Amino acid sequence: MKLAETVSGSSMLQIGDQFDHYQIRSHIARGGMSDIYRAYDLLSGKQVALKIPNATMIGDPAQYERFQRELEVMKTLNHPAIQKGLDSGTYNNTPYLVTELVDGESMRSLIERAAPMPPGDAVRLIRKIADGLAHCHDHGIVHRDLKPENILITSDGQPVILDFGLALTKGARRVTYANLSSAAGTPDYMAPEQIEGHRGDQRTDIYAVGTMLYELLEGHPPFSGDNNFAVLAQHMQGAVPRIDREQTGVSPQLAAFVVKCLQRNPDERFQDMHELLHAFDHLEVMDISALDRGTGPVTAVPFWRASTAKAIGSAVLLLVFLVFLALLLQTFHK
Ligand SMILES: Nc1ncnc2c1ncn2[C@@H]1O[C@H](COP(=O)(O)OP(=O)(O)O)[C@@H](O)[C@H]1O
Ligand SMILES: [Mg+2]
Repeated sequence: MKLAETVSGSSMLQIGDQFDHYQIRSHIARGGMSDIYRAYDLLSGKQVALKIPNATMIGDPAQYERFQRELEVMKTLNHPAIQKGLDSGTYNNTPYLVTELVDGESMRSLIERAAPMPPGDAVRLIRKIADGLAHCHDHGIVHRDLKPENILITSDGQPVILDFGLALTKGARRVTYANLSSAAGTPDYMAPEQIEGHRGDQRTDIYAVGTMLYELLEGHPPFSGDNNFAVLAQHMQGAVPRIDREQTGVSPQLAAFVVKCLQRNPDERFQDMHELLHAFDHLEVMDISALDRGTGPVTAVPFWRASTAKAIGSAVLLLVFLVFLALLLQTFHK
């Protein structure tokens, strides 16, 4: 069968269509790159999630490899917090990926509904996510696109991490802002090293964990701005914003934990997920001295003001130096 063109111009499968050996039951969601359908596998008799490229991606020849790689990554892993991959292939020139159906609410909708959350609930959820990520990292896989849209939470509170489309394995392509902006839409969870064009490592996922924990506790992501560039600038230059501990009942230790995840320099974050998990389980001994050092509300100083201040500072120094020199010469002449 051919993909139907809807009024909006997007390529959509219709309910009841058969796509390879999958029968479409409903449209679940539209991601940054794909449409996800609930489908019935005529071979296994199971309900599955079928992912096909959306209209913007449909002609992209890299999509097939991307889905294949995504499946490969999922098959390497086996953890309750990681989505399970089942199949990938091409049907009528359309690449597809099949994963286990997750019956749950997206973390984005949880945030909209329930954040700011009681700190205990936020910690419990993020801990399970971090546990799944430790499993990924132990297998040499860095997710690199963690955000609330890519996490589903089942009714018994189990988070499931999805979308390993940008995951880094050996030899994977670099994530740049250019391909993230079209693919992922938001730079809210991007680590500074990704913004600078580096591939990132497990500490890049640690940064994203910090942004998501911050958002669960505060109800909004740590860095914000009128547009993507303003948000990127905040990630690069803004002070790590202070968690409003009085209002949300967050302990100084938990606030310090978040600050440590959100350090701009990866060397100053937790160095791996096991270190992070250990700190999570021993929050009472978390070093809180960082809270009074580099933190505070984001006060964006326009760069021209910062550079003007620097210029004035240098001019004053030069003047002092010249006066000093003149006085010295005068003394010699006497
Ligand atoms: N296995 C699944 N079960 C249920 N819903 C899913 C499943 N996989 C994805 N989704 C839904 O589809 C959305 C997009 O999926 P995702 O894999 O992130 O696609 P993209 O790569 O296009 O961002 C998710 O945010 C989620 O709401
Ligand atoms: Mg996604």
